[in-house]
Amino acid sequence: MKGVIFNLLEDAVSAEHGAEAWADLLDLAGLDGGYSSLGSYPDAELLAIVDHAAAMLALRPAKILRWFGQRAIPLMSERFPALFDSHRSARSFILSVNDMIHPEVRKLYAGAACPHFHFHDIEDGRLAVAYQSRRQLCHLAHGFIDGAAAHYGEAITVDHLTCTHAGDPVCRLALEWQA
Ligand code: HEM
Repeated sequence: MKGVIFNLLEDAVSAEHGAEAWADLLDLAGLDGGYSSLGSYPDAELLAIVDHAAAMLALRPAKILRWFGQRAIPLMSERFPALFDSHRSARSFILSVNDMIHPEVRKLYAGAACPHFHFHDIEDGRLAVAYQSRRQLCHLAHGFIDGAAAHYGEAITVDHLTCTHAGDPVCRLALEWQA
């Protein structure tokens, strides 16, 4: 995982719980930190930090990942304003993840292994988002979607229809825009 993700997590944790909380998490996970945005680090380090945060707050790791995704979006919009300013809605922003956002990320952060999403409209009007990655970070994707909705002043309900954590071959999210 690229260091920039660790940097965003540090910023999110420090903003809400103070810089000491981040230092405590690193200690508990037995990590020395010092993540450079362009570096690549084992996914297990991110998951260890998330697991310790979950234990500390008595929450499930999925909740922490979703929280992180929500909090990361405003931080990303400061770092990468052009990726947000070229859209007027969360739908258009989310639909650009494969063709604009993550290709740009791969240019900026060599070696980034970004996931690919499949989108299709469901008959009931919802947007289906299919996600498959060996990293199984569907709850992070859920948080990014929450954060995108907040960024564009929208409300989106996300239903997790299938999940690789439950043994399904792929995660399918159904997004419903609230009036
Ligand atoms: C400006 C917006 C965004 C930026 C800058 C961004 C950037 C990144 C970066 C740097 C990574 C790490 C890749 C690596 O270390 O190999 C990543 C991973 C990821 N991104 Fe994005 N992303 C953005 C938007 C989104 C959105 C809208 C979604 C979902 C709807 C999304 C879903 C994910 C997920 C789930 C991962 C984890 C890696 C995996 O699952 O394999 N991202 N993104």
